[in-house]
Amino acid sequence: MGKKLIIGNWKMNLTIHEASLYIHKLDKLIVSYSNVEIVVAPSFLALPALSMQVDHSKFKLAAQDFYWRDEGAFTGEVSAHQLRGLVKYALVGHSERRHIFGESGRVIRHKVQAALRNDLIPVLCVGETATERADGETIGALQDQIIEGLANVTSDEAAKVVIAYEPAWAIGAGKTPSPRQINQAINGIRNQVAHLFGDKTARDIRVLYGASVTKDNAASFLDISGVDGLLVGGDSLNAHAFSEIVNKAQEL
Ligand code: 13P
Repeated sequence: MGKKLIIGNWKMNLTIHEASLYIHKLDKLIVSYSNVEIVVAPSFLALPALSMQVDHSKFKLAAQDFYWRDEGAFTGEVSAHQLRGLVKYALVGHSERRHIFGESGRVIRHKVQAALRNDLIPVLCVGETATERADGETIGALQDQIIEGLANVTSDEAAKVVIAYEPAWAIGAGKTPSPRQINQAINGIRNQVAHLFGDKTARDIRVLYGASVTKDNAASFLDISGVDGLLVGGDSLNAHAFSEIVNKAQEL
């Protein structure tokens, strides 16, 4: 089994200075790096400074978003092409991008392709809303998001993609699905990947769980069959809490 992948999504938090202090602290708190790939996703502003600061054998960087065109007249945007060499991963289609900023399936598909074209690993975020879950449409919603996000991707490319299962209703809510519900959702995701790209890709593709992961419940998610790692929001803002999550993943 590969290393567990633990990603901290800082969202719109931490200044450049705070980000730098955080990494300094985190490095002291992590016991070992051997079984875990540790990734932090700061704001665009902090990326250049952190890229200079971090030991890249210990920490990888991720972008939280980007625009899918490589360059041009797109005021305010940052492209995957500009991020090349600066980050290893890039989140795509995070629930907040979909629901607050109205990002469509078409845009998300373009972003997955732009990431791959620029040698970034896309972390395609999928998840059902509260209404979809209440209506028994969870698996269908996840499968639709996989079909949309991975359209026009080859099976070799699909095997590189990371999929993060983040139920929209549980993000930042202090609520989580049961282990059984997470396992069902992840099986639904892998079944759809198998349908599109074959069984080998479905086995190889890494699937993370995210939404209200804390230092206290992280181990319980990592124990669920099919979970290859975690995407952590709120608890990743505290170096102590995030280091505990990493240290738990390391022990498993
Ligand atoms: P929380 O861990 O704060 O629920 O956020 C999850 C998330 O959106 C990570 O991308």
